Amino acid sequence: MVTATVPGEQVKIGQTRLLINNEWVNSVSDRRFETINPTTGEVICEVSEADAPDVDKAVQAARNAFTNGEWRKISATRRGELLYKLADLIEQNIDELAQLETLDNGKPLQDSFGDLGLVIACYRYYAGWADKVQGKTIPINGPYFCYTRHEPVGVVGQIIPWNFPLVMQAWKLAPALATGNTVVLKTAEQTPLSALRVGELIIEAGFPPGVVNILSGYGPTAGAAIANHRDIDKVAFTGSTEVGHLIMEAAAKSNLKRVTLELGGKSPNIVFADANMDAAIAGSHDAIFFNQGQCCCAGSRLFVEEKCYDEFVARTVERARARVVGNPFDAKTEQGPQVDKDQFDRVMSYIESGMREGAEMLCGGNQVGDKGYFIAPTVFAGVRDDMKIAQEEIFGPVMSIIKFKDIDEVIQRANATMYGLAAAVWTQDITKAHAIANNLRAGTVWVNCYDIFDAAAPFGGFKQSGIGRELGEYGLQQYTEVKTVTIKL
Ligand code: NAI
Ligand code: MG
Repeated sequence: MVTATVPGEQVKIGQTRLLINNEWVNSVSDRRFETINPTTGEVICEVSEADAPDVDKAVQAARNAFTNGEWRKISATRRGELLYKLADLIEQNIDELAQLETLDNGKPLQDSFGDLGLVIACYRYYAGWADKVQGKTIPINGPYFCYTRHEPVGVVGQIIPWNFPLVMQAWKLAPALATGNTVVLKTAEQTPLSALRVGELIIEAGFPPGVVNILSGYGPTAGAAIANHRDIDKVAFTGSTEVGHLIMEAAAKSNLKRVTLELGGKSPNIVFADANMDAAIAGSHDAIFFNQGQCCCAGSRLFVEEKCYDEFVARTVERARARVVGNPFDAKTEQGPQVDKDQFDRVMSYIESGMREGAEMLCGGNQVGDKGYFIAPTVFAGVRDDMKIAQEEIFGPVMSIIKFKDIDEVIQRANATMYGLAAAVWTQDITKAHAIANNLRAGTVWVNCYDIFDAAAPFGGFKQSGIGRELGEYGLQQYTEVKTVTIKL
């Protein structure tokens, strides 16, 4: 058994090879790459590195399972049972999975447990849907009987990011499997470990060979091979908007595979002076700092009404200064390291740009400690809409506070972005809350709360934040093709 030692913990590492056709195999090239512990900057272990030939093998296994295998004959009810079983196994191994997630990603252990709650709920939610996906009978003209079937799309390629490795795996696998697809899933190169452990549980749950294939590997190699593949029917991607464009282009140039994208954001979080200030301050803090700021829906443009601006800024800085940064395995820790050196450097360069462009840095701005990738919670006030830190996704613990005067102005400014993933408003005035909810061009609007996720509630982006929705009943549509059958009577 391989273990990794972290401050105060021994974490068990599961499989490190590729999962293809229910077997653990080395990559065709035999190459491996290192995964790093962001808390220390040290190597945890090596994992097999997939490239195009491994994608080919995984697609063949998935195609075979879809066309000829046992999976094809399994009832919808049985698919649901398998997903319930997987959820149970994840629950039974929750401690081990949470530790592995924290080791590889750096998120506080308590947050890994929070993520796992969503993971288990997601598998159970879609398990329940498996035998409830129904077509319609349609009264067409003439002596015909017409009905629709909702059939699986086929072989699905799924590419996930590193910020919520287990949650993203669940959001991708659960609806795809509930509706009878087969999957080739590529994890992010920064965080391959927890998904492989779930791979072991997928085999244990009894999923037939080839239904779920899991590859560790890099984006421009294995990821691009999935996006370009001619025998993949659909690709589902979560990650940067930049790569989202590449995925869509690859789909267009290859076989017009279906594309769903969940991309970046620059979500407005709007605080009115009539809000419950304690709730608004606590909620706005979590909105940006949760998960080290590495959230696609982070409240990264914090608009504060002029009338309460000074009080809000002072109390917000106090809260940010009190945030506990450190060893993610420590129960008191609220913030761990950024996921890797690249992300650390990128966030630091945004902090420099904020200072250069004249935003007021009220706290943070520095590295914490001398190893690992920790960044002090950073608050900029006096941010203008045209500054880089107000326009681009920083993906780090950096709050940008922007002053506004009235509701019409803030709606217009909040919408002045290429993104449209999420938004929030803090107010006790129901009319204002509805005006914001109706007029913001975003896939999710939270009122007097933030980051409320539920497997039943759809999530996804307007504009360049994405295409399609994940979760809920809407999420099922992305994994089915509608077939119309017409019979002469
Ligand atoms: P990325 O978009 O490059 O990586 C996400 C996934 O896409 C990974 O699995 C990666 O291997 C894969 N990928 C990368 N290039 C690819 C390609 N050419 N073809 C197919 N797959 C490819 O994101 P990265 O570089 O890790 O982070 C850069 C920035 O992207 C972050 O700072 C953040 O702003 C944003 N991001 C947004 C996420 C979200 O949840 N919306 C998640 C991760 C990053
Ligand atoms: Mg990248």
